[in-house]
Amino acid sequence: MTISAAPSHTHRMARRAAGFQPSPVRAVFDISMRPGMISLAGGNPYLPVLPIGEIAAMVGDVVERRGLEALQYGSGAGTEELQALICQVMELEGISSASQNIQITAGSQMALELVTKLFCDPGDVVIAEGPTYVGALGVFEGFQAEVAHVTMDAEGVDPDGLQDVISRLKAAGKTIKFFYTTPNFNNPSGISLSVERRQRVVDICRAEGVLIVEDNPYGLLSFDGTLRPAMHTLDPENVFYLGSFSKIFAPGLRVGWIVAPEDVRGRLQIAAEATTICPSVLSQLVVEQYINSFDWRGQIAAYAAVYAERCQATLNALAAHMPGGTQWTTPTGGFFTWVTLPEGTDTGRVLAAAIDAGVVFVPGSAFYADGGGQNQLRIAFSYAPAGQLEEGVKRLAAAIRSI
Ligand SMILES: Cc1ncc(COP(=O)(O)O)c(C=O)c1O
Repeated sequence: MTISAAPSHTHRMARRAAGFQPSPVRAVFDISMRPGMISLAGGNPYLPVLPIGEIAAMVGDVVERRGLEALQYGSGAGTEELQALICQVMELEGISSASQNIQITAGSQMALELVTKLFCDPGDVVIAEGPTYVGALGVFEGFQAEVAHVTMDAEGVDPDGLQDVISRLKAAGKTIKFFYTTPNFNNPSGISLSVERRQRVVDICRAEGVLIVEDNPYGLLSFDGTLRPAMHTLDPENVFYLGSFSKIFAPGLRVGWIVAPEDVRGRLQIAAEATTICPSVLSQLVVEQYINSFDWRGQIAAYAAVYAERCQATLNALAAHMPGGTQWTTPTGGFFTWVTLPEGTDTGRVLAAAIDAGVVFVPGSAFYADGGGQNQLRIAFSYAPAGQLEEGVKRLAAAIRSI
């Protein structure tokens, strides 16, 4: 009997599988692990700020006291207690929502997946900031949605630009499903949408029949403690709000949430159950315990203080070392700054030279669906200590000069 070669299955895959491409952030992960390499690439929270001993005791206590519940299946929407505690967290940004409005998810990434699954047919359009979160682009592409970008300036997305994009798409007969936005400390640009513009953006979307998906994992990580009101507060029926404990506590727990209007919530829960049956009960109980018994606000302040110091070190190094004609954003919170090199510079080529010089970053084109961002790049300052950030920027500047 002859054994035929292993069959290939890729040609049998659904058309949407073509949209599942490796993330450019993950692509540089292996390189960033090389000895001596400085990574300005991955936007990981700096977990050593957490008192791990206390967290270990907390997790042990949850299993000891509530183990049978923690290790069992739970409600598809999430635990009632965590839903109520999330309302307390959201109050910091002005949201007053009833706890039954909350669907708990495995991080806000799952929330993004759920809204896209519920709303987007192939060919539908999602409007997104340019640049935008690469993980969101992956979701939109996976559901065969088209992405149209709106440009940003120092105050965030330009409302007139948003209106123009909507009008142009409608004139072309396109179906726009939602405007996806990270209004606070945008990943990758670090830019925040000004308070004045929030109302205009909300008004435009409401008038044009376009939903808003407000993704806010970084909003509480403000360096000076200033918090902007969530867009959800301005139009709760038209703005879906996505939150997460990944950046304010720990991403490994995979706990996030979505606040959605009443007529969507039932279907949202069924879609969530189809994906995970229920959110991890163990993780939810750990987060409950954390919010109930730990100084979680103080922990957010401790995280923000570390990021503020690292951001400043990065900005100082950029000012000291970058070649003339280079610009960068000045974030007031979050994990990232966004660097723009002179027109015509290819940051893909800079990356190759940078790796030789011992530093990695994510090129700007990763954050656009339309080939934009060629002369731009993202620096994550959340994880590396200040000294490494300074040295990394110095190496990056040398790499830019060398090409
Ligand atoms: C803008 C944005 N949205 C969503 C996520 C996903 O976060 P998580 O699923 O860990 O909550 C991230 C992670 O980096 C992000 O930067």
